[in-house]
Amino acid sequence: MKIVTTPDEIQSIALAKRRQGQTIGLVPTMGYFHEGHLALMREARRRADCVITTLFVNPMQFGPTEDLDNYPHNFGRDTALAESVGVDFLYAPTNAAMYNDEFSSTVHVEGLTSGLCGAARLGHFDGVTTVVAKLFNQTLPHIAVFGQKDFQQLAVIRRMTSDLDFPIEIIAHPIVREESGLAMSSRNTYLKEEEMGAALSLSQAIAGAKAIAANPSSTSNTIKKNVRELIEKHAECTIDYVEIVNALSLEPCDTIDADSIILLAVKINKRIRLIDNSLLLDT
Ligand code: PAF
Repeated sequence: MKIVTTPDEIQSIALAKRRQGQTIGLVPTMGYFHEGHLALMREARRRADCVITTLFVNPMQFGPTEDLDNYPHNFGRDTALAESVGVDFLYAPTNAAMYNDEFSSTVHVEGLTSGLCGAARLGHFDGVTTVVAKLFNQTLPHIAVFGQKDFQQLAVIRRMTSDLDFPIEIIAHPIVREESGLAMSSRNTYLKEEEMGAALSLSQAIAGAKAIAANPSSTSNTIKKNVRELIEKHAECTIDYVEIVNALSLEPCDTIDADSIILLAVKINKRIRLIDNSLLLDT
Protein backbone atom coordinates (compact mmCIF):
# COMPACT_ATOMS: atom_id res chain seq x y z
CA MET A 1 0.00 0.00 0.00
CA LYS A 2 1.34 3.43 -0.93
CA ILE A 3 0.69 6.57 1.09
CA VAL A 4 -0.02 9.67 -0.99
CA THR A 5 -0.34 13.19 0.39
CA THR A 6 -0.91 15.56 -2.51
CA PRO A 7 -3.91 16.07 -4.84
CA ASP A 8 -1.62 16.16 -7.91
CA GLU A 9 -0.01 12.83 -7.11
CA ILE A 10 -3.26 10.96 -6.36
CA GLN A 11 -4.85 12.39 -9.52
CA SER A 12 -1.88 11.29 -11.66
CA ILE A 13 -2.11 7.81 -10.14
CA ALA A 14 -5.86 7.68 -10.80
CA LEU A 15 -5.41 8.83 -14.41
CA ALA A 16 -2.71 6.19 -14.97
CA LYS A 17 -4.92 3.44 -13.50
CA ARG A 18 -7.79 4.53 -15.75
CA ARG A 19 -5.48 4.52 -18.82
CA GLN A 20 -4.55 0.92 -17.90
CA GLY A 21 -8.27 0.05 -17.94
CA GLN A 22 -8.49 -0.42 -14.17
CA THR A 23 -11.60 0.49 -12.17
CA ILE A 24 -11.11 2.66 -9.08
CA GLY A 25 -13.05 2.21 -5.84
CA LEU A 26 -13.01 5.07 -3.34
CA VAL A 27 -13.66 4.96 0.42
CA PRO A 28 -13.64 8.48 1.91
CA THR A 29 -12.96 8.53 5.67
CA MET A 30 -11.79 10.76 8.49
CA GLY A 31 -9.63 7.97 9.92
CA TYR A 32 -9.43 6.21 13.30
CA PHE A 33 -10.55 3.07 11.57
CA HIS A 34 -12.91 0.52 13.08
CA GLU A 35 -14.62 -2.54 11.65
CA GLY A 36 -17.24 -0.27 10.01
CA HIS A 37 -14.57 1.47 7.90
CA LEU A 38 -12.85 -1.82 7.11
CA ALA A 39 -16.15 -3.25 5.84
CA LEU A 40 -16.39 -0.31 3.39
CA MET A 41 -12.82 -0.95 2.22
CA ARG A 42 -13.50 -4.69 1.75
CA GLU A 43 -16.60 -3.79 -0.28
CA ALA A 44 -14.52 -1.50 -2.51
CA ARG A 45 -11.87 -4.25 -2.79
CA ARG A 46 -14.54 -6.71 -4.01
CA ARG A 47 -15.87 -4.28 -6.61
CA ALA A 48 -12.85 -2.45 -8.03
CA ASP A 49 -9.35 -3.19 -9.36
CA CYS A 50 -7.73 -0.36 -7.44
CA VAL A 51 -8.86 0.81 -3.98
CA ILE A 52 -8.16 4.31 -2.70
CA THR A 53 -9.03 5.18 0.90
CA THR A 54 -8.88 8.83 1.81
CA LEU A 55 -8.05 9.93 5.34
CA PHE A 56 -8.77 13.58 5.91
CA VAL A 57 -10.34 15.17 8.98
CA ASN A 58 -12.19 17.85 7.08
CA PRO A 59 -12.27 21.12 9.08
CA MET A 60 -15.00 22.52 6.80
CA GLN A 61 -17.62 20.09 8.14
CA PHE A 62 -17.05 20.85 11.85
CA GLY A 63 -18.85 23.69 13.60
CA PRO A 64 -16.93 26.05 15.93
CA THR A 65 -18.06 24.17 19.07
CA GLU A 66 -17.56 20.68 17.65
CA ASP A 67 -14.81 18.12 18.27
CA LEU A 68 -12.39 18.92 15.40
CA ASP A 69 -9.36 19.49 17.65
CA ASN A 70 -9.99 16.33 19.67
CA TYR A 71 -11.08 14.13 16.77
CA PRO A 72 -9.37 10.78 17.45
CA HIS A 73 -6.42 9.85 15.25
CA ASN A 74 -3.76 7.17 15.00
CA PHE A 75 -2.10 7.26 11.61
CA GLY A 76 0.18 4.27 12.21
CA ARG A 77 -2.68 2.02 13.24
CA ASP A 78 -4.88 3.26 10.38
CA THR A 79 -2.10 2.54 7.86
CA ALA A 80 -1.71 -1.04 9.10
CA LEU A 81 -5.48 -1.65 9.12
CA ALA A 82 -6.03 -0.25 5.61
CA GLU A 83 -3.15 -2.37 4.32
CA SER A 84 -4.59 -5.48 6.02
CA VAL A 85 -7.81 -5.26 3.97
CA GLY A 86 -6.04 -4.74 0.65
CA VAL A 87 -6.24 -0.96 0.14
CA ASP A 88 -3.82 0.08 -2.63
CA PHE A 89 -3.49 3.80 -1.85
CA LEU A 90 -4.07 5.64 1.41
CA TYR A 91 -4.54 9.27 0.43
CA ALA A 92 -3.98 11.57 3.42
CA PRO A 93 -3.65 15.19 2.27
CA THR A 94 -2.83 18.08 4.59
CA ASN A 95 -5.30 20.90 5.28
CA ALA A 96 -3.14 23.26 3.23
CA ALA A 97 -3.16 20.87 0.26
CA MET A 98 -6.96 20.65 0.37
CA TYR A 99 -7.80 24.27 1.15
CA ASN A 100 -5.23 26.82 0.01
CA ASP A 101 -5.42 30.43 1.17
CA GLU A 102 -7.54 31.49 -1.82
CA PHE A 103 -10.02 28.62 -1.47
CA SER A 104 -13.51 30.12 -1.77
CA SER A 105 -15.92 27.55 -3.25
CA THR A 106 -18.75 25.63 -1.61
CA VAL A 107 -20.92 22.80 -2.90
CA HIS A 108 -24.38 23.17 -1.41
CA VAL A 109 -27.28 20.71 -1.74
CA GLU A 110 -30.66 22.35 -1.06
CA GLY A 111 -33.54 20.65 0.73
CA LEU A 112 -32.12 17.34 1.91
CA THR A 113 -29.63 19.21 4.09
CA SER A 114 -32.07 21.41 5.98
CA GLY A 115 -33.52 19.01 8.58
CA LEU A 116 -32.19 16.28 10.88
CA CYS A 117 -28.41 16.68 11.37
CA GLY A 118 -28.42 19.70 9.04
CA ALA A 119 -30.66 21.64 11.45
CA ALA A 120 -28.39 21.03 14.44
CA ARG A 121 -25.07 21.25 12.59
CA LEU A 122 -25.33 24.39 10.44
CA GLY A 123 -23.01 24.28 7.44
CA HIS A 124 -21.98 20.69 8.17
CA PHE A 125 -23.28 19.24 4.91
CA ASP A 126 -21.76 22.04 2.84
CA GLY A 127 -18.43 20.95 4.30
CA VAL A 128 -19.16 17.32 3.48
CA THR A 129 -20.31 17.89 -0.10
CA THR A 130 -17.46 20.30 -0.82
CA VAL A 131 -14.79 17.90 0.39
CA VAL A 132 -16.40 14.85 -1.23
CA ALA A 133 -16.64 16.69 -4.57
CA LYS A 134 -12.94 17.55 -4.27
CA LEU A 135 -12.05 13.97 -3.35
CA PHE A 136 -14.07 12.69 -6.34
CA ASN A 137 -12.15 15.00 -8.67
CA GLN A 138 -8.80 14.11 -7.13
CA THR A 139 -9.26 10.32 -7.12
CA LEU A 140 -11.51 9.87 -10.21
CA PRO A 141 -13.30 6.78 -8.89
CA HIS A 142 -15.80 4.58 -10.74
CA ILE A 143 -17.50 3.66 -7.45
CA ALA A 144 -17.48 5.24 -3.98
CA VAL A 145 -18.58 3.38 -0.86
CA PHE A 146 -20.31 5.15 2.06
CA GLY A 147 -21.82 3.78 5.27
CA GLN A 148 -25.55 3.88 5.92
CA LYS A 149 -24.95 4.97 9.51
CA ASP A 150 -24.65 8.52 8.18
CA PHE A 151 -27.93 8.08 6.34
CA GLN A 152 -28.59 11.74 5.62
CA GLN A 153 -25.01 12.19 4.42
CA LEU A 154 -25.50 9.29 2.02
CA ALA A 155 -28.71 10.82 0.63
CA VAL A 156 -27.03 14.21 0.22
CA ILE A 157 -23.99 12.70 -1.52
CA ARG A 158 -26.23 10.71 -3.89
CA ARG A 159 -28.09 13.93 -4.74
CA MET A 160 -24.86 15.86 -5.34
CA THR A 161 -23.40 13.04 -7.47
CA SER A 162 -26.50 12.99 -9.65
CA ASP A 163 -26.98 16.78 -9.81
CA LEU A 164 -23.35 17.46 -10.73
CA ASP A 165 -23.11 14.50 -13.17
CA PHE A 166 -20.22 12.77 -11.46
CA PRO A 167 -19.89 9.46 -13.38
CA ILE A 168 -19.61 7.56 -10.10
CA GLU A 169 -21.76 4.78 -8.66
CA ILE A 170 -22.51 5.40 -4.99
CA ILE A 171 -22.56 2.17 -2.99
CA ALA A 172 -24.30 2.11 0.40
CA HIS A 173 -22.95 -0.28 3.01
CA PRO A 174 -25.18 -1.42 5.91
CA ILE A 175 -24.40 -0.23 9.44
CA VAL A 176 -21.80 -2.37 11.19
CA ARG A 177 -22.65 -2.92 14.86
CA GLU A 178 -20.84 -4.09 17.98
CA GLU A 179 -22.22 -7.33 19.42
CA SER A 180 -24.07 -5.12 21.92
CA GLY A 181 -25.97 -3.46 19.04
CA LEU A 182 -24.06 -0.14 19.27
CA ALA A 183 -23.49 1.26 15.77
CA MET A 184 -19.73 1.49 15.18
CA SER A 185 -18.35 5.03 15.12
CA SER A 186 -14.98 6.64 15.72
CA ARG A 187 -16.77 8.77 18.33
CA ASN A 188 -17.56 5.65 20.43
CA THR A 189 -14.00 5.93 21.64
CA TYR A 190 -15.04 8.98 23.74
CA LEU A 191 -17.59 6.86 25.67
CA LYS A 192 -16.76 6.03 29.28
CA GLU A 193 -17.70 2.63 30.71
CA GLU A 194 -20.50 4.19 32.76
CA GLU A 195 -21.98 5.84 29.63
CA MET A 196 -22.41 2.56 27.74
CA GLY A 197 -25.97 1.95 28.98
CA ALA A 198 -27.01 5.35 27.66
CA ALA A 199 -25.22 4.78 24.34
CA LEU A 200 -26.91 1.40 23.91
CA SER A 201 -30.33 2.96 24.39
CA LEU A 202 -30.24 4.14 20.75
CA SER A 203 -30.09 0.67 19.19
CA GLN A 204 -32.43 -0.71 21.87
CA ALA A 205 -34.98 2.02 21.15
CA ILE A 206 -34.71 1.25 17.42
CA ALA A 207 -35.38 -2.44 18.12
CA GLY A 208 -38.45 -1.38 20.14
CA ALA A 209 -39.57 0.92 17.30
CA LYS A 210 -39.35 -1.93 14.79
CA ALA A 211 -41.40 -4.19 17.05
CA ILE A 212 -44.16 -1.55 17.29
CA ALA A 213 -43.99 -0.80 13.55
CA ALA A 214 -44.68 -4.46 12.79
CA ASN A 215 -48.25 -3.76 13.96
CA PRO A 216 -49.96 -2.27 10.85
CA SER A 217 -52.06 0.14 12.92
CA SER A 218 -49.02 1.85 14.49
CA THR A 219 -48.31 5.48 13.62
CA SER A 220 -45.11 7.51 13.50
CA ASN A 221 -46.17 9.47 16.56
CA THR A 222 -46.69 6.39 18.73
CA ILE A 223 -43.34 4.97 17.68
CA LYS A 224 -41.46 8.25 18.24
CA LYS A 225 -43.06 8.71 21.67
CA ASN A 226 -41.99 5.23 22.71
CA VAL A 227 -38.43 5.79 21.45
CA ARG A 228 -38.13 9.12 23.29
CA GLU A 229 -39.37 7.59 26.53
CA LEU A 230 -36.90 4.72 26.31
CA ILE A 231 -33.93 7.00 25.63
CA GLU A 232 -34.93 9.63 28.19
CA LYS A 233 -34.83 6.98 30.94
CA HIS A 234 -31.07 7.60 30.77
CA ALA A 235 -30.23 10.88 32.47
CA GLU A 236 -27.05 11.14 30.37
CA CYS A 237 -29.08 11.39 27.14
CA THR A 238 -30.26 14.59 25.49
CA ILE A 239 -32.26 13.88 22.36
CA ASP A 240 -31.35 16.03 19.39
CA TYR A 241 -33.98 14.41 17.17
CA VAL A 242 -36.08 11.29 16.75
CA GLU A 243 -37.64 11.37 13.28
CA ILE A 244 -39.40 8.95 10.99
CA VAL A 245 -38.98 9.96 7.36
CA ASN A 246 -39.23 8.60 3.86
CA ALA A 247 -35.82 7.10 3.05
CA LEU A 248 -35.67 8.74 -0.39
CA SER A 249 -37.04 12.23 0.20
CA LEU A 250 -36.17 12.51 3.94
CA GLU A 251 -39.65 14.07 4.33
CA PRO A 252 -41.43 13.19 7.61
CA CYS A 253 -44.03 10.42 7.25
CA ASP A 254 -47.08 9.89 9.48
CA THR A 255 -47.82 6.34 8.45
CA ILE A 256 -45.35 3.51 8.14
CA ASP A 257 -44.47 1.81 4.86
CA ALA A 258 -41.52 -0.10 3.39
CA ASP A 259 -39.56 3.16 2.86
CA SER A 260 -40.05 4.52 6.38
CA ILE A 261 -36.80 4.95 8.26
CA ILE A 262 -36.27 6.01 11.85
CA LEU A 263 -33.32 8.32 12.47
CA LEU A 264 -31.94 9.32 15.88
CA ALA A 265 -29.34 11.75 17.13
CA VAL A 266 -28.62 11.80 20.86
CA LYS A 267 -26.00 13.58 22.91
CA ILE A 268 -24.46 11.60 25.76
CA ASN A 269 -23.55 13.85 28.69
CA LYS A 270 -23.57 16.81 26.26
CA ARG A 271 -20.16 15.60 24.98
CA ILE A 272 -20.70 12.80 22.51
CA ARG A 273 -23.23 13.04 19.71
CA LEU A 274 -24.32 9.59 18.52
CA ILE A 275 -26.53 8.82 15.54
CA ASP A 276 -28.27 5.63 14.47
CA ASN A 277 -31.03 4.61 12.06
CA SER A 278 -32.95 1.71 10.60
CA LEU A 279 -35.72 0.99 8.13
CA LEU A 280 -38.74 0.19 10.28
CA LEU A 281 -40.07 -2.78 8.33
CA ASP A 282 -37.90 -5.77 7.50
CA THR A 283 -38.33 -6.73 3.87
O1 PAF B 1 -18.35 10.18 6.83
C1 PAF B 1 -17.24 10.74 6.95
O2 PAF B 1 -16.29 10.19 7.53
C2 PAF B 1 -17.03 12.12 6.34
O3 PAF B 1 -18.17 12.89 6.46
C3 PAF B 1 -16.53 12.07 4.88
C4 PAF B 1 -17.55 11.46 3.95
C5 PAF B 1 -15.23 11.30 4.80
C6 PAF B 1 -16.26 13.49 4.38
O4 PAF B 1 -15.30 14.14 5.15
